[in-house]
Amino acid sequence: MKPVEISLKDKVALITGAAGGLGGAIARMFGAAGARVFLHDLFEDKLKDIAGAMQAEGIEAGYKASDITASGAPQALVDAAIGKMGRIDIVVNSAGINRPQKSEDVTEKNWDDIMNINLRAMFFVSQAAGKHMIERGGGGKIINLSSQAGAVALPLRAAYCSSKGGVNQLTRTLALEWAKHRIVVNAVAPTFVETPFTAQMFQDEEFKKYVLASIPLGRMVTSEEIANAALFLASDLANMITGHILAVDGGWTIQ
Ligand SMILES: NC(=O)c1ccc[n+]([C@@H]2O[C@H](COP(=O)([O-])OP(=O)(O)OC[C@H]3O[C@@H](n4cnc5c(N)ncnc54)[C@H](O)[C@@H]3O)[C@@H](O)[C@H]2O)c1
Repeated sequence: MKPVEISLKDKVALITGAAGGLGGAIARMFGAAGARVFLHDLFEDKLKDIAGAMQAEGIEAGYKASDITASGAPQALVDAAIGKMGRIDIVVNSAGINRPQKSEDVTEKNWDDIMNINLRAMFFVSQAAGKHMIERGGGGKIINLSSQAGAVALPLRAAYCSSKGGVNQLTRTLALEWAKHRIVVNAVAPTFVETPFTAQMFQDEEFKKYVLASIPLGRMVTSEEIANAALFLASDLANMITGHILAVDGGWTIQ
């Protein structure tokens, strides 16, 4: 038997939120596994630095900056990725925000911003990439960043939990519709990870204590551990897995 290896050799992966903690870790992991990566985020200078560092390690990396919620931005992103890399085999939707707030105080703007980035943009990036994958006829893989908040309630996160519940149902629905095109659609659902996303909330010691006490395995998850799960789902090892929400949560949601 040949040694087992997880390889994304020559696969083209489009990764949103690539300047963030998890998107960045996934981009580096995919690049190390042989993928050619196309990075997206809000800020051009950050993407340039990240892509430059990857290129210095021999990884082919392109990038485009835009606000993914802007009208037409998802299609423009997919067009740019195809223009630079020739095709898209894998999409990782990692752009996301959270604005913890008491439900009594949530404004219409905060609700809309969270839904627009976490769910609406995820759909339209998937739609644009999905149309390309269907047209090419070679199948594809879409991996959505969900959260344990899609399965359990968390305080101060009415919009966030709602958006991630939506991400789980979006994942299952696209998986069902696009199975006939051999496009598999899955999600990774992390517990709390220490990234810029959570840095501010963990300044609250009480909150940090509550988080650690809620994870049976007793620690937060690392960005690399989330990237491991994304790598598995992106690889040929997971070809028959679709519509699955892969919890990487140290057991939070089994309680
Ligand atoms: N870090 C965690 O603890 C955690 C836990 C569960 C789920 N998640 C999910 O994982 C994903 C990535 O989280 P992260 O920890 O890497 O967060 P992060 O804040 O480090 O990265 C998110 C990235 O999304 C980008 N982004 C935000 N709005 C955008 C917009 N309008 N257009 C383009 N890009 C935009 C940001 O610039 C940022 O670089 C999110 O969907 C988040 O909900 C994170």
